[in-house]
Parts: sequence; structure tokens; C-alpha cells
Amino acid sequence: MSRDTIASGPTPAGYMSGFGNSFETEALPGALPVGRNSPQKVNYGLYAEQLSGSPFTAPQASNQRSWLYRVRPTVRHTGRFVRIDRGVLRTAPEREDATQPLGQRRWGPTPLPDDKRTFVSGLFTATTAGDAESMAGMAAHVLLVTQSMTHEHFFNADGEMLVVAEQGRLRFRTEFGVIDIEPGEICVIPRGVVFRVELIDGPARGYVCENYGGAFTLPDRGPIGANCLANPRDFLAPVAAYEDREEPCMLIVKWGGDLHQTEMPHSPLDVVAWHGNYYPYKYDLRRFSPVGAIAFDHPDPSIFTVMTSPSETAGTANVDFVIFPERWAVAENTFRPPWYHRNIMSEFMGLVYGVYDAKPEGFVPGGFSLHNTMLPHGPDADAFEHASNVELKPVKLTNTLAFMFETRFRQRVTAWAEGLPTQQRDYIDCWSGLRKMFDATRRDPR
Ligand code: FE2
Repeated sequence: MSRDTIASGPTPAGYMSGFGNSFETEALPGALPVGRNSPQKVNYGLYAEQLSGSPFTAPQASNQRSWLYRVRPTVRHTGRFVRIDRGVLRTAPEREDATQPLGQRRWGPTPLPDDKRTFVSGLFTATTAGDAESMAGMAAHVLLVTQSMTHEHFFNADGEMLVVAEQGRLRFRTEFGVIDIEPGEICVIPRGVVFRVELIDGPARGYVCENYGGAFTLPDRGPIGANCLANPRDFLAPVAAYEDREEPCMLIVKWGGDLHQTEMPHSPLDVVAWHGNYYPYKYDLRRFSPVGAIAFDHPDPSIFTVMTSPSETAGTANVDFVIFPERWAVAENTFRPPWYHRNIMSEFMGLVYGVYDAKPEGFVPGGFSLHNTMLPHGPDADAFEHASNVELKPVKLTNTLAFMFETRFRQRVTAWAEGLPTQQRDYIDCWSGLRKMFDATRRDPR
């Protein structure tokens, strides 16, 4: 997959282009009230309802809400809830079933299971961090889907969900409309938005960042200026699409770390029109325009931030979503792979396709690694040897897409991840070949 495969031309059918825009869209002409949110009667006998993603009084820049015009108000899509088995879905703070092992960790790809797993039952929590109760931190889930949701629907009150497709395509049928993603793309479903997920062409695998904190937004670019990195026009929101289905449906809610279920005699995806700036969206990571060094050294990996979930402390992200896409390496007299480092932030990494330059072996698509707070990491011995001796011509890193969920909080490893047979217990040995080269009698580089 390369940039050549990106469709040229205008916004694809079914979507509206822009990040954080206030959009308006209607599936029936005249369904949207004009010039007001809540008229005495709404056309077509619709109900008006607001969905608030921020406190009413949040500052303008972070204030998020949408108005939905729907067949029934959401109170008719929920009844009495019963708690259901949460499987291996875990939520921070998880003390009993998630530990903080001291050490760098890496796992091979998790095979797709033989049993039936929907988007909800297919969420396998690998790490948790922070505290969902206080709306801080995140969880990293492996997503293994073998079955479409048909009458089942879901919303997450604990966090927004950033879904990274790695294998197979997914269709998100949401209150706001339909979003399709393929490997190389992401979908973000805000907290509280009801949806169900269908498979398009067979089982799918991916990764999910469940963000308990502030909604993902674009990072400030500072001296980079107005362009490059993730450009706002490449984010796509769905146009309104509704279901008028009178048949038994189910709603599962993730709330306070548990799953609860309720039933109703109709589809909850009954929004005929909506307007506002709180909605699900997608983004093609191959449209990210990477910025880097064009003479020597390279900047901190934050230069690859696609989106950030800010915290109360400026510059200290609740979560950064960072990618390492196709790019040219051109720096002169420079060790080009990521340098060795220790970091106050903790780093969960995954690979969508290709090879990651710091770890040419062992880190494979569908796998993941965890470099927790202050734990040293960097290129393995082979990557160091190669990068230290290779002739420094311009090199295109092609067909590669790695990503990172980086958080200010330590990440706890769940019992599920700890027990996976795919865990590479010898991961730390990838650095054991880094030999001592120091010689006090020789000043020149060796
Ligand atoms: Fe790192």
C-alpha cells in the first residue's frame, strides 16, 4: 500500500471532510430544523435530542455537542439493564487482574479465534493505565472480530474508542451514519455514541485505544506552521443514515468497567438528521504528511503525532496517537533509527503492516510491545550494527506503518496479555548483542 493508491478527487460519497467542524446533514429533506435546535414540532414527527461530549460550559475550543433528530428519543432505546460477563475486557484502575511487571515486553500476533466474537466480545484488553473514574488514562485492546453484530449495539460511557484496522475491513453503523475502514485507516467513536460493527469481507483484527481522557484533537504544530502532519481536510465524518427497523434489538453499554445489557423492540440507529461537532470520524493514516530532519539528527518521535488527548498539564498528553509511516530517511552523518532512550511516558506499540526500522525481527503485524515508564529501549543489536555501518544514501522506508499509544500513565499488563503464548519471553535478549566498543586510547569513531 503506498500513497499512489490513495484515491484522488473530492470527498468520498457518504462523508463530509474536516476535523472538528460543525457539520449538518439530513437523510430526508427538511428533517433538520432551520435556524434553531428545538422547535415546538420537528418535521416528520422526529424527536430533537442533544448529545454532549463536553460539559455545557467548556471553553469554545473544546466544547463538543451535537443535536440529533430521531425516530424515538434515546430514553426509548434503553430499559432496565442487566450486568453481563465482561470476558477479558478490563478498565483502569485494575489491580487484581493487571500487574505492573518491570521489564520491556513484546508479543507476537494474536491469532483470530475459532469461536464467534463480535466487536464487543472481541475486545481483549492488553494494558490499562490511569483511572477511568476520574477520566484520565487509557486502555489498549487487541480487537479480534469473527462475527458481525446484527441486532446487537454498543456504546462506551468510559471512553472514546480509536480503532486501528490491521487485518480485514470493518463497517461501523453509528447513530450518525456509516463509516467503513480498511487496514491503514482508523475510526474514532466518541464516548456515548451508539453503534454496531459489521465485517465486510471476513474476520478482522486490529487495535483499540480506549481513551478515558479529553477527546482526541490535532496537536499544535508550533513552528511547523499550518500544514503537514495530519491535515484537517482528510478527516471524514459520515452523512446521516437511519434505520426504521421494528425488530428486537439489544444495547450493550460499557459503564464503570462493566458491561450491561438492555433490550428494545427496534433499532436504536434511528437518527434521520444531525448537526454539531460531536460525531464519529475516520482518517486514512496514509494521508499523514511526515515531517523530519533534512540535514542531520532526527526530531523527537512526537513529530509523528496524529492526534493527542490533552491533559490539564500543557504538553503532557493523556494519550498521544503516533504513527511511523512510509517516509524518506536522508539525514547525513546520523544514526537514523530511533535512538536509545528512557521516557517518562509509557509506550504501547503495534504494527499494521511492513517492518519497523528499529526492530526488523520479532515485531510483526498484529503483534505489540510495551515500553513502560522509564524503561530503556531502542534499536536491537542487528539494527544498531546495520545503521552504524550502512552507507548513508537517501533511503525510502516503504510499505511500513507502525503506531504508538503513548500515555503519561504507567501501563498495567492484564492477566490475559501476561498469559498469552505469543509473549516473547526472550524479548530483552534482542539487545544482548550490543557489545562494549569503548577504547580510551582511540578517539576516532570505530
Ligand atoms: Fe520509545
